[in-house]
Amino acid sequence: MNEPYDLLIRNASIVDGTGAPRFAGDIGIRGDRIARIGDLSGERGHAEIDLAGRIAAPGFIDAHTHDDRLMLSNPDMAPKVSQGITTVVAGNCGISLAPMPRPIPQPVTPPLNLLDEKGDWFAFPTFASYIAELRAKPAATNCALLVGHTTLRVATLDDLGQPATAEQIARMRALVQEAMEAGAVGVSTGLFYEPSVAAPCEEVIETCRPLKEFGGVYCTHMRDEADHVVDSLEETFRVGREVGVPVVISHLKVVGPANKGRSAEALALIEKNMANQPICVDCYPYTAGSTILSADRAASSSRVIVSWSKTLPEYAGQDLDVIAHKLGCTEEEAIRRLSPAGGIYFRLDEADVQRILKHDKVMIGSDGLPHDASPHPRLWGSFPRVLGHYGRLLGLFPLEMAVYKMTGLTAKNFGLKDRGVLKEGAYADLALFDAETVDEAATYEKPIAPAHGIEAVIVNGTVVWQDGRPTGSRPGRVLAREAQEGGR
Ligand code: ZN
Ligand code: CU
Repeated sequence: MNEPYDLLIRNASIVDGTGAPRFAGDIGIRGDRIARIGDLSGERGHAEIDLAGRIAAPGFIDAHTHDDRLMLSNPDMAPKVSQGITTVVAGNCGISLAPMPRPIPQPVTPPLNLLDEKGDWFAFPTFASYIAELRAKPAATNCALLVGHTTLRVATLDDLGQPATAEQIARMRALVQEAMEAGAVGVSTGLFYEPSVAAPCEEVIETCRPLKEFGGVYCTHMRDEADHVVDSLEETFRVGREVGVPVVISHLKVVGPANKGRSAEALALIEKNMANQPICVDCYPYTAGSTILSADRAASSSRVIVSWSKTLPEYAGQDLDVIAHKLGCTEEEAIRRLSPAGGIYFRLDEADVQRILKHDKVMIGSDGLPHDASPHPRLWGSFPRVLGHYGRLLGLFPLEMAVYKMTGLTAKNFGLKDRGVLKEGAYADLALFDAETVDEAATYEKPIAPAHGIEAVIVNGTVVWQDGRPTGSRPGRVLAREAQEGGR
């Protein structure tokens, strides 16, 4: 008999994150790594978990988050680890907490206020200082970090309504260089949003230049996800080609009733271009989106829920039409009185959501907004919803495929070495769950609720979630991107 394992997981149904069929076995963990997978019935562990046939999978990787601040302000990461998530990709949609080399202008420019309404957390003059803080005060989850183009603009430009000048681009490019040297894995843009809509494609390309040297990725909340989605896809491909790096299309969707069904066209165009350049895609499993409250977004939605409001916080969680009625005004006027505020917008078609979700190259990302008073349920529910609602109940894909879309595929796309798969020698990031009961508990009405069926969650060999609550351990690390073979 060998030396006891630090943690021995017995009688697991192992879904290894590659998409391969599950198999029965035990998993022995030593330190932060998986030491053995197989029949370990003759072995012992200092700690043991008997799964009695339930699932052991790689810990889920949330491909799309806004957890930059959550990792520091709520390091237990309950909305994430309660779903089985062990790694978050933060800094999406052009919004990152760092760097902010000058005091952040007040009031905090939307959508940066999604991370922090007051601005106190935008306190890291360099990306290195942000990473140093995450290392000094680790969170429960690992992270891979993007530097946001909108953050760089707010840090650099005085007039956000204009394209950056050559000199401003040079300053933003230097900030990207610093972030990549410090350990960022890429740059994100939010060209859809007001302060970055003014940035032409050329500004993005020139700002992103340092990515190539570091083998980084370019992630984008595209300029248009509605009538002009094809133009936006072409713009995204162009940035990838000209900078020479992989692109990640964030939360792929087709917005508004006029574009119903066009997910087929978007996916076909993406597939066609995947033959020529590396393209990755993530999506969240809901027909409602969520971001800053605005009249134009509300106008194209069948229903709007207010997720937070600075001026009238008591209305968070209520429908906009109900609020307007209570205030005795139009919905447009209500939006004015509620702002700055957040909204949940019902404006996607279920068949489009399913077509994108089901595509075998599409990763799962929650896009959860952790600081909203009444958040979109995707914050607490995305991953279990894919496994339960879409996998088990609607039969959109087998469990092995659902797990692959939230583990192996994501680790490969972001270059996260020895993550996202269960194999000997890999890091011991695991989600242990019951395939029969796993599902979201969060709803639009009651959005803050830990998922059903999650048994335990392990990060770098340490249990971070068990018996329905955080254990208090915070073994999370800042992960580097491993450059892909062939420079692609
Ligand atoms: Zn976005
Ligand atoms: Cu986002």
